Amino acid sequence: MHSAFSNTKIAHHVHNALGGSAKDQVITSQDFTDAIAEITTWQGYAPTPLYALRALAEELGIAKIHYKDEALRFNLASFKALGGAYAALRLLQKELTAQLGHPVKSQDIIGGRYRAQAAGITLVSATDGNHGRSLAWGCQRFGVPCRIYIHAEVSEGRAEAMRAYGALVVRIAGDYDASVALTRLEAEKNGWFVISDTSWPGYQDPPRDVMAGYGVMVNEICQTLDQAPTHVFLQGGVGGMAASITAFLRQYWSQSPIRICVVEPDLAPCLFVSAQNGTLTNFNIQKETVMAGLSCGAPSPLAWPILDAEVTDFLTIPDTVVGPTMRLLAHPLADDPAITAGESAVAGLAVAIAACHTPDLRDALALGADARILVFGSEGITDPDIYAQLMAEV
Ligand SMILES: Cc1ncc(COP(=O)(O)O)c(C=O)c1O
Repeated sequence: MHSAFSNTKIAHHVHNALGGSAKDQVITSQDFTDAIAEITTWQGYAPTPLYALRALAEELGIAKIHYKDEALRFNLASFKALGGAYAALRLLQKELTAQLGHPVKSQDIIGGRYRAQAAGITLVSATDGNHGRSLAWGCQRFGVPCRIYIHAEVSEGRAEAMRAYGALVVRIAGDYDASVALTRLEAEKNGWFVISDTSWPGYQDPPRDVMAGYGVMVNEICQTLDQAPTHVFLQGGVGGMAASITAFLRQYWSQSPIRICVVEPDLAPCLFVSAQNGTLTNFNIQKETVMAGLSCGAPSPLAWPILDAEVTDFLTIPDTVVGPTMRLLAHPLADDPAITAGESAVAGLAVAIAACHTPDLRDALALGADARILVFGSEGITDPDIYAQLMAEV
C-alpha cells in the first residue's frame, strides 16, 4: 500500500455524542419518505452501485468495505443531484400553489403545465460546483431561470457544466462563504428564491429538502445490506450530507451502535472545530483544499444538531492522501472493481485506509477484524482536467 497512508497526519477528536431527538426531528422519516417517493419517479432514476471492496478489506485486515458510488447519479456525477433539484421542485410547488390559489402537483410542474408561471420565478444559489449543477439541471427540467454564484477558486470546468444546463453563472472574488453571503443579498434585493444546501437562522426549508433528497442514496443502501455497518466514514463540507446520512442510518438501524466518523480536509475543518468547541464554530479558510466540495468554513446550523448528537468521531486529513486514494480506486487490488472517484469522493475511504495503517488510531476507532466499513463515493469525475492531473501524479 502507498506510503501516503502510513505517514499521514490525521487529527482525531472523540466526540461525546449524547443522542436525543435531533436525528428524528430535524429531518423526519416522513421527510425522507416524501423525497424518496418523488425522486424515484423521475425520468432517469436508477439506484447507484454499492461495491464490496473485498481485496482492500482483506489487505487492511477488516471484514468488509462497502463503497456507494454516486458517480453516475442522474448523469450529474455526484450525489448532489438528489438534493438541489428536489428542493427546487418543492419550492416551486409551494410558490405556484400560493400564486395560483390552488394545490399544484409536482408531476404537473415536471410535465410543463405551469411553464408560463414558472418562467417568472428565479432560483439562485452559491456553490462550489456540485450543488449548483443539480440546481441548474432541475431548473432546466422545470423551466425556471437559474443563477449560480461561484467563488474565485471554482474551476472553469465546473462553471461550464452548470452553464450547459442553462444557468447564468456569476463568479465572485471571495471564497465559498462570501459567495453564500452575496447570494442571500442579491436574492433579497431582486425577489429571487435561494435554494441553498446550507442553512442559516431563519432559512431552513430548502436545505432540509436538500438533505431529505440525499436520503434516496441511503435508502438504496439500507435496502441492499443485510446487516448494519459497524463504521461509517462521512466527508463533511457544511455537514448536510453527513447529517442526512447519519439521521437516516440512526432512524433505520436504531438498535445498532454504528460508529459514525466525520472527516474533513485539514484546510477546512469547520465541523471538527465545532466539535472541539462544543458549539457551532466557523473556520477561517486560509488555503483552498483540492477537495473542492469540502472547502467550507461555516457549518450548516440545520445539520449541526444531528452531527453534535450522533457523530462519535471527527477527523481531518491532509490533501496528500487524496490522489493516492483516487488512484487506488482506479487501479484496484485483485478483483475489486475499478472506480472513478473525484477529489471530494474519497475522503471517507482515505481516512479509513490511513486509520488502518496508524496503530493508535486504529485502536481508538476499534477497527478490528470484524469491522464493516461503509463509505460514500460522493462524486465521480466532476472536473476532467483536475481528475487527469491527480491520476497522473506519482
Ligand atoms: C462530492 C461532494 N462530497 C461531499 C460534499 C459535502 O457535502 P456537505 O457540504 O453537505 O457537507 C460535497 C459538497 O459540495 C460534495 O460536492
